[in-house]
Amino acid sequence: MTLSQRPVLVVGAGIMGAGIAQVAAQAGHPVALVDARAGAAASAIDKLATTLQGLVAKGKLSAEALQATLARLQPADSVAQGVAALASAGGVALVVEAIVENLAAKRSLFAELEGLVAPDCVLATNTSSISVTAIANGLQHPGRLVGMHFFNPVPLMKLVEVVAGLHTEAPVAEAIYALSQAWGKTPVHAKSTPGFIVNRIARPYYAETLALLQEQAATPTVLDACLRGAGFRMGPCELMDLIGHDTNFAVTNSVYEANFFDKRFQPSGVQRELVDGGLLGKKSGRGFYDHRTGALPTVP
Ligand code: NAI
Repeated sequence: MTLSQRPVLVVGAGIMGAGIAQVAAQAGHPVALVDARAGAAASAIDKLATTLQGLVAKGKLSAEALQATLARLQPADSVAQGVAALASAGGVALVVEAIVENLAAKRSLFAELEGLVAPDCVLATNTSSISVTAIANGLQHPGRLVGMHFFNPVPLMKLVEVVAGLHTEAPVAEAIYALSQAWGKTPVHAKSTPGFIVNRIARPYYAETLALLQEQAATPTVLDACLRGAGFRMGPCELMDLIGHDTNFAVTNSVYEANFFDKRFQPSGVQRELVDGGLLGKKSGRGFYDHRTGALPTVP
């Protein structure tokens, strides 16, 4: 099974979906980017064009590569529209789902997709934490569903966790592994355990950060300065702002529940307060930091 340069449907034009669409188009695939919010996919592609133009200006990308990449990208406001847009290129060979971190939403999307794509089309989910086995449950062809877990920001981060659930057929996981390599990524095979590999390790890291904040032991600025000083590329608070507190909170809840409410993975009230207040981080303009002012965190 080869997916090389075949049409890709990316569903969800948020932080992750836009990055995945960019990487796929740069690797030569015709791509349709879909979002349920009208106009969201088109504006994500506009934003992406501006970013790539910046790379051309810096001499990091050729003008021809920019034009070729943009020519491969099409926006759509529904999956049916996205599937139709790729019909003339041979039909969707791979779906990469990057919608909200919610099992019911993902199941319902894949059920709809099964009615629109060919039976051999690979269905990949970018879920951070939800059981790949559970997402596949109920599909007509559950063996073709696999986790393809990218990291943020997608064009820069090399790691992809290729997550096999109990239903996932081995050739499907191998095809996604090979495709990730073709996209310049460094894939690893993972099992559908709660949080897979990176998020399993990262949850207690965020939990301890949030506990220190709750205890008012240190400010976000101090915590970030400490961890940067210890060699981390980003501090935990600025990283949570980048991920998005809504997504990060959903991931924490999912890992907590999947670990039978083990206290190590317990969500934090600090996180919930940010989500309830719409302070989602970089994507909403404010989280721990105010991203609208562009001020960099400094040690007080
Ligand atoms: P986001 O909130 O930036 O974007 C999600 C997008 O999906 C929104 O534009 C929303 O309108 C759209 N959407 C929601 N339901 C939809 C539906 N049924 N059909 C079409 N579009 C729909 O979220 P983000 O951060 O891009 O996360 C997406 C997925 O990627 C989640 O499963 C998340 O856990 C995972 N992920 C997130 C990472 C991060 O750092 N933010 C890292 C790795 C994985």
